[in-house]
Amino acid sequence: MSAGQKLYEGKAKILYTTDDPQVLLAHFKDDATAFNAQKRGSIAGKGEMNCAISTHLFQLLEAEGISTHWINSPSANEMQVRTVKILPLEVVVRNIVAGSLSQQTGIPLGTVLTQPLVEFYYKNDALGDPLLTSDRLFLLKLATPAQVEQLRDAALKINQILSGFFEKCGITLVDFKLEFGVDAQNHLLLADEISPDTCRLWNQTDSDPNQRVMDKDRFRHDLGNVEAAYRQVLERVLAQSIQK
Ligand code: TMP
Ligand code: ASP
Repeated sequence: MSAGQKLYEGKAKILYTTDDPQVLLAHFKDDATAFNAQKRGSIAGKGEMNCAISTHLFQLLEAEGISTHWINSPSANEMQVRTVKILPLEVVVRNIVAGSLSQQTGIPLGTVLTQPLVEFYYKNDALGDPLLTSDRLFLLKLATPAQVEQLRDAALKINQILSGFFEKCGITLVDFKLEFGVDAQNHLLLADEISPDTCRLWNQTDSDPNQRVMDKDRFRHDLGNVEAAYRQVLERVLAQSIQK
């Protein structure tokens, strides 16, 4: 299935049409951005690494009964995905306090939450992806109440599966961001990617707060060795089979 027209170019991926209207081709880029694209750069090999990590994790989730947009990964930095209408929501799940949760609440970095926190952000670059209350989410008609329940349940189930998987890799899943879409049959599918760009991942064998970081925070905060950290995640993820 060959790539057709460029449909959409985001910060980390380009989506192309294919000869099947139900299928799109996602091309993963090496480009990296942070802080709503105020910081820009490139991470060598990121496109291929994130495509391979996402492929493995989508296959794991599918095996565990989660419906995703993933169909196939025909080349190192390309993924065939089901065509969906993306809900303009970023669903964030947190197990440990970090990032904006720490900054906005004052809860110290590294505090372990007694239960996972699910948050919804408005996927809108012009507005800086603000945190939503459920009333604002309904005011903006971003999802129906039934969809919000479905998203919460799916996000918590995905968190359980991914946390267990990363544990086997010697990595703590601190938090992560998910995006969902709706296909032509109105099925809710997990979309976008799951990678060190969209997760906070801490190496369990390192307690130093900078050394342990294996994700895009290395790029965001100029911690160095970004490619090496992504490569470590890739190697550990691929070393774990997706069997239950
Ligand atoms: P935050 O602590 O900055 O709100 O980020 C929470 C999680 O969401 C973290 O794993 C990084 C991820 N994330 C994205 O994937 N894209 C984004 O634009 C932002 C702000 C966060
Ligand atoms: N998606 C963010 C950006 O706008 C990056 C991030 O902090 O993950 O550039």
